[in-house]
Amino acid sequence: MKTIEFESQRVSLWYFRLALVLFILQVIMGLWLSINYAFTLPQELVNVFPFSTAREIHTNTLVAWMLLGFMGGTYYILPPECDRELYSTKIAYLQLIIFVAAAVTAVIGFLFGWTRGKPLLEIPFPLNALIVVAALLFIANVAMTIIKAKVKTALQWMLLGGVTFLALMYLFGMPFYRNLNTDYYYWWWVIHLWVEGAWEIVTASIMAYIIMRVTGVERQVVEKWLYVETGLFLFTGIVGTGHHYYWIGAPDYWLWWGGIFSALEPLPIVLMVVDTWMHVRERRNPIVNPLTWYYIVGLAIYHLVGAGLWGFMHTLPPVNRYTHGSQITVSHGHLAFFGAYALLNLTIFYFAMPRLKGITKYHDTAGRWGFWITTIAMFTLGLVFGIAGILQTYLERFLDIGYSTAQQTMMLWFRIAFGVGLVFLGGVLTTIWHLFTLKPSDKQAAEEVVVTPAANI
Ligand code: HEM
Ligand code: HEM
Ligand SMILES: [Fe+2]
Repeated sequence: MKTIEFESQRVSLWYFRLALVLFILQVIMGLWLSINYAFTLPQELVNVFPFSTAREIHTNTLVAWMLLGFMGGTYYILPPECDRELYSTKIAYLQLIIFVAAAVTAVIGFLFGWTRGKPLLEIPFPLNALIVVAALLFIANVAMTIIKAKVKTALQWMLLGGVTFLALMYLFGMPFYRNLNTDYYYWWWVIHLWVEGAWEIVTASIMAYIIMRVTGVERQVVEKWLYVETGLFLFTGIVGTGHHYYWIGAPDYWLWWGGIFSALEPLPIVLMVVDTWMHVRERRNPIVNPLTWYYIVGLAIYHLVGAGLWGFMHTLPPVNRYTHGSQITVSHGHLAFFGAYALLNLTIFYFAMPRLKGITKYHDTAGRWGFWITTIAMFTLGLVFGIAGILQTYLERFLDIGYSTAQQTMMLWFRIAFGVGLVFLGGVLTTIWHLFTLKPSDKQAAEEVVVTPAANI
């Protein structure tokens, strides 16, 4: 039985595979970072492979695999959504090659100190230029596919709007502003307006599509939520950028504007959970692959906890004054990135990869282990970072104890983080192994008779 409607959807498979490889590299670097905090390493080692290099690789591979997942996901859902093949599969592969070549060169460059030193956006200008070329090719390909589509849907335009917004914001991080305050001001246009703006819109659009396909709930119902969520994300997220302007020399009014609007940011995330929950309850299709459901529901809940709850905890100025830039921020960074975007990508992979391999129902034992181990281990890791952060905040900011002394007391928690991180790596490897070796379950043949393609998940 045919499990994908259009041949050009196949381009997404390579995006997913490469994303998963980068995910492994990212996690290994994370483990190395925690060792740096947990033990005093010999200076010779630090000279060769400094913490800053490992952190660059950890965070840049993170951004790269997220973007690969979003682009692959977009290429996977566009053909059925537009009822036509992609405008060009050649462009899609060319863009992938350029992007991956830039990413690999960047990682090698970091090892030799070729870096701009701007956190999360360390890659040097020539490589940035390549990323821009890849992004332009991507947007042109998506736009042309939509323009030439026989059917027009709100979802297509939301998705195009989201990825264009994403690419535009990247441009603000490319120049170096002579004044460091100005530099940070615009740095947040990338970081904050990505994760709390453009990426949320991409997430809402992709999830609207997946939920529609998986549950069989009507398009009008799903799209109604999409409008509300997108509107609210923009309303709260854009002015909410101010929660990063409290202490960088920006005008005082940001304390109020940033505080109030960012405190409202969890609202659209709550709506997403309600929305997902209603669709799951009112679904018309039978559950074929329970694991895909785990990911959909897991994403909704984890997104709310990591981004909404953990973000809310330190967003008001009187709290942020003490927690700013501490391990509490790191705790939120991990839970939010994992809960919202790693799980979004894994949801896309679990939705698309079986179909790309012609599988309607897959064996999921290993996948279930992977799901539970990674989600629980990351939550524990978030708590461990959080405890280290509370200690750090108390010692450094309340008792005014020096950084290095405070750091000593945090070492124990980073040793624990390393142990939990190893478990997390185990879960990630299990999940990735499962995704790479998906096998049809024995029941597939029997189910094929009754299940229509739209009903498979
Ligand atoms: C999925 C969405 C989100 C992701 C991926 C995310 C991720 C991050 C990351 C990585 C940082 C650290 C940046 C740095 O200084 O290096 C950060 C900072 C911050 N986030 Fe989020 N975040 C998300 C949503 C939210 C929401 C909804 C809120 C508020 C309700 C929030 C509040 C904050 C605050 C206040 C900081 C600054 C912490 C400080 O002063 O050190 N975040 N976020
Ligand atoms: C074995 C698992 C992992 C460990 C042990 C780990 C550890 C670390 C450490 C020690 C840092 C440096 C914090 C600092 O500079 O003080 C870091 C940064 C970061 N990691 Fe991880 N990490 C892991 C997995 C992940 C995953 C899966 C994600 C995302 C899905 C992630 C996202 C981030 C982000 C966004 C930052 C920057 C945080 C900030 O600037 O506040 N990490 N990680
Ligand atoms: Fe933010």
